Amino acid sequence: MSFAEFQSSHLLLGIALALCFNQVSSTTNETDILALLTFKAGITRDPFGVLDSWNNSIGFCQWYGVTCGRRHRRVTVLDLSSQGLSGSISPYIGNLSFLRQIWLHNNSLDHEIPAQVGQLHRLRYLQLDNNSLVGEIPKNISGCLDLVSLLLQGNQLTGEIPGELGSLSKLRELALSVNNLIGSVPSSIGNLSSLEILFLAGNNLGGSIPQALGHLTNLQGINLERNRLSGTIPSSLLNLSSLATLIIGGNRIVGTLPASIGLKLLVLEYLSVYENQLEGPIPSSISNCTKLEVLQLSSNKFSGKVPSFENLRKLHWLVIFDNKLGSGKPGDLSFLCSLTNSTELWELTIQMNEFGGVLPKCIGNLSAALTLFSVRENQISGEIPKEIGNFVNLEILSMSINPLSGVIPSDLGNLRNLAGLLLSDNNLGGTIPSFWGNLTKLITIDLNGNNFHGQIPSHLSNCRSLDLLDLSRNNLSGAIPPELIGLSSLAIILDLSRNHLTGVLPTEVGNLRTLTALDISDNLLVGEIPGSLGDCIGLTSLRMAGNFFHGSIPQSIRSLGGIEELDISRNNLSGVFKNATGTSIIGNNELCGGLPEFHLPNCISKSSKRRTINIVILSVSVVFGVLGIALILAFIYLCWLKKKVNEPISSSMDDSRPSVSYRTLLNATNGFASTNLIGVGSFGSVYRGILEDNGTVVAVKVLDLVRHGALKSFMVECEALRNIKHRNLLKILTICSGSDYQGNDFKALVYQFMDNGSLERWLHPNATLSHHNELLEKLNFIRRINIAIDIAYVLDYLHHQCHIPIVHCDLKPSNILLDAEMVAHVGDFGLAKFLLGSSLDTVANQMSSLGLRGTIGYAPPGNLSTFYYNDMSSTFFWMISTTNLICTMIKMCDRICHGI
Ligand SMILES: *[C@@H]1O[C@H](CO)[C@@H](O)[C@H](O)[C@H]1NC(C)=O
Ligand SMILES: *[C@@H]1O[C@H](CO)[C@@H](O)[C@H](O)[C@H]1NC(C)=O
Ligand SMILES: *[C@@H]1O[C@H](CO)[C@@H](O)[C@H](O)[C@H]1NC(C)=O
Ligand SMILES: *[C@@H]1O[C@H](CO)[C@@H](O)[C@H](O)[C@H]1NC(C)=O
Ligand SMILES: *[C@@H]1O[C@H](CO)[C@@H](O)[C@H](O)[C@H]1NC(C)=O
Ligand SMILES: *[C@@H]1O[C@H](CO)[C@@H](O)[C@H](O)[C@H]1NC(C)=O
Ligand SMILES: *[C@@H]1O[C@H](CO)[C@@H](O)[C@H](O)[C@H]1NC(C)=O
Ligand SMILES: *[C@@H]1O[C@H](CO)[C@@H](O)[C@H](O)[C@H]1NC(C)=O
Repeated sequence: MSFAEFQSSHLLLGIALALCFNQVSSTTNETDILALLTFKAGITRDPFGVLDSWNNSIGFCQWYGVTCGRRHRRVTVLDLSSQGLSGSISPYIGNLSFLRQIWLHNNSLDHEIPAQVGQLHRLRYLQLDNNSLVGEIPKNISGCLDLVSLLLQGNQLTGEIPGELGSLSKLRELALSVNNLIGSVPSSIGNLSSLEILFLAGNNLGGSIPQALGHLTNLQGINLERNRLSGTIPSSLLNLSSLATLIIGGNRIVGTLPASIGLKLLVLEYLSVYENQLEGPIPSSISNCTKLEVLQLSSNKFSGKVPSFENLRKLHWLVIFDNKLGSGKPGDLSFLCSLTNSTELWELTIQMNEFGGVLPKCIGNLSAALTLFSVRENQISGEIPKEIGNFVNLEILSMSINPLSGVIPSDLGNLRNLAGLLLSDNNLGGTIPSFWGNLTKLITIDLNGNNFHGQIPSHLSNCRSLDLLDLSRNNLSGAIPPELIGLSSLAIILDLSRNHLTGVLPTEVGNLRTLTALDISDNLLVGEIPGSLGDCIGLTSLRMAGNFFHGSIPQSIRSLGGIEELDISRNNLSGVFKNATGTSIIGNNELCGGLPEFHLPNCISKSSKRRTINIVILSVSVVFGVLGIALILAFIYLCWLKKKVNEPISSSMDDSRPSVSYRTLLNATNGFASTNLIGVGSFGSVYRGILEDNGTVVAVKVLDLVRHGALKSFMVECEALRNIKHRNLLKILTICSGSDYQGNDFKALVYQFMDNGSLERWLHPNATLSHHNELLEKLNFIRRINIAIDIAYVLDYLHHQCHIPIVHCDLKPSNILLDAEMVAHVGDFGLAKFLLGSSLDTVANQMSSLGLRGTIGYAPPGNLSTFYYNDMSSTFFWMISTTNLICTMIKMCDRICHGI
């Protein structure tokens, strides 16, 4: 070997050694330390200070949340779950080459998932669920060939599900629910032969469910609900004998459930296909799924006779409402008798079908655990079986809108837990029973539209929680019991109209301080209107027409500042209006009746107050479709700009909502600290803040003005909220419109802070199924009803009682916020739309008359329907009866906005 040769080989050796050394150094613990420290640097918020221990005073293997392998002392586990961390996940994480488990779930991590994660060939668990991660799912996660569990649900991930994930042959859990994923479900998922859990719910996935999923022979749970999936349920999927949970509700699935379903799915526990377009019969083989706990087939087009469920002894929920089941003939309800061994049955909802015949006596043997029994809107005749009195845990009994006859059996007095008794629109008769004294939990009693006669029992006043009582359209007589009309819990509706009640209106009526609507019209009441009526300051609707009241209208009525509808026509009242020369009615465009000299239109009494939300919504949607929305928005924009130019900012909201400065908000939110960040919406971030001057806790939505549409959204929201007020609207306290210290435009809206967060969190906790059920149980029936009623109220208000009807257009559980008392408030009007009149001229008029309200006098019935509880009971009740209630309602409303 020549020297030169020696030298060159030495050089090569040197290079090789250097390379080798590099290789070694890149896999030493130094790399891990660097990667961990870089990870730490990416974390912008660490409220519990868990990363403080990540310093040189101790070895990195002792750092909080870090676990090292025993032999090689390299990082194998990174567990920082539920630490409230914000910030990004550093790409350096990809250098922790010995990492097997990443647990970062339940934090507030934002930014993207670094693609370098794909370098972690030893990774088995990647749990990033419940963060605020954005961007796409990196395709090269498919490089983590040992991955067993990939949980990314509850983030804001976009894009498609990478088909590459199909190569993760060891994957057992894949959960991508509640993100913004689009595209279709990749067929390659069918290659994940170890897969046990597949959760893709709550995205925008389209296309059909791939047949290939039928290859997943280990699959135990699949949840695809609330997407836009179409096509049929692949037969292969229904052959998977391991399947325990099958949830595909809230899609556009068509076809039938195959007759053999129960012969294959022998371990099925949870079958939920609600809100699709499935048709045909309910297969009788379902009774062979002996482990079934939940059977949810509501809002489809299932028809025919309901089969026997006699082997379903573990059934908790049988939810088959809103289908075409039954024939309207006797025998339709015999399936109820097959449920007598289902001792854990909790909800039985069969409303809105075509069931005929009588309720069989065997229902008395149904589970005593039953809390909800609804048969409303069927063709069920005969009497209410006294055996219903056995359901001692019943909370809701809904039998409205059937041809039921006979009397209310006194056995119902045993239903100590009853909160809602809904028997409207039947042919029930007799007197109203007097067992109410023991039913102290009643919240709602609706007996309207029957043939009850006799007196109103004063015992009803023992129902100290009652907030809605509707006894209208019966043949009741006698006096109004003072105890009842003084029942201060009544907060929603007291309707005694269209009976034969006599005597005076007791002065105790003044106790109804929180009541929203009082209707005693069309009775035989006499005497003067008690001045105490002025104490009912919560009233928005007061109807007393068609009685024999005389005397003058009490001055105290002035204090009913929130009144929107006042009808005292067809009485013998006297007062200011008797003298046309001394009275001016200018500006009260909606008055009717009165002296001929006023030249007012005749009052048209409402032909029927029974109107369902369905119909209302349809008519709204027609109107909406016809309008040129862009034009209207442009117009509002111009109006807004004009106002802004002409007026100081503080009056761009009404006087009670002065605007605040950037500085105030900066202080309130601690400099918009990420510790105060409570959410990120489509047009900006929401911070929790405390206003310095009065200590009010507020939520501050800072508009991201760079985001397309954010400015428009801000203006629409200001405009929408500017003149409306309702207890169930998220109150906007103030706005900030100015510039920040850098001179950039800065716009923010300041709202009431809501302690219980959004309804979304309660309805779809996007955790495991068991946890899900637990939360749903906390959101108990009464709460659900109250929330639905709250929302119904505010929707009615927005649609029918605002001078310009407002359609929210983005109503979804995440925009429904719950305060400390679980009262629902609808928020986020950034996409709201205004349903204006036919031409821009009338729009201008409407705009200028926005301020005129609360007129005293002969207020008209108006052409927009008032919301009645009947509407709720006929349409809302079936929605309320399952966990999907709000979603159903929201879908209906959404249709207005999307023209579906
Ligand atoms: C470094 O970590 C140790 C051990 O957890 C801790 O006690 C100490 O306060 C930390 N030092 C700093 C400067 O954070
Ligand atoms: C890193 O590894 C070297 C040698 O492999 C070892 O001496 C040192 O203690 C390790 N450092 C830590 C912090 O574990
Ligand atoms: C999520 O983290 C918070 C703390 O940041 C904790 O209070 C909460 O219990 C955690 N939730 C779950 C479901 O682990
Ligand atoms: C670790 O990862 C980062 C970013 O992915 C990269 O820039 C760096 O060179 C890697 N190697 C080491 C030894 O840190
Ligand atoms: C249940 O399965 C058995 C066979 O395993 C079958 O004979 C029976 O008919 C099935 N029941 C129903 C209701 O389909
Ligand atoms: C309920 O169970 C009993 C005892 O096992 C049985 O005799 C009866 O037929 C069952 N009833 C129904 C409706 O399945
Ligand atoms: C109320 O309950 C008590 C105790 O169970 C019972 O004695 C009484 O008869 C009940 N009253 C009515 C009116 O049902
Ligand atoms: C009507 O009011 C005018 C003006 O207040 C008054 O002059 C007139 O006498 C009143 N007429 C009657 C009939 O009260």
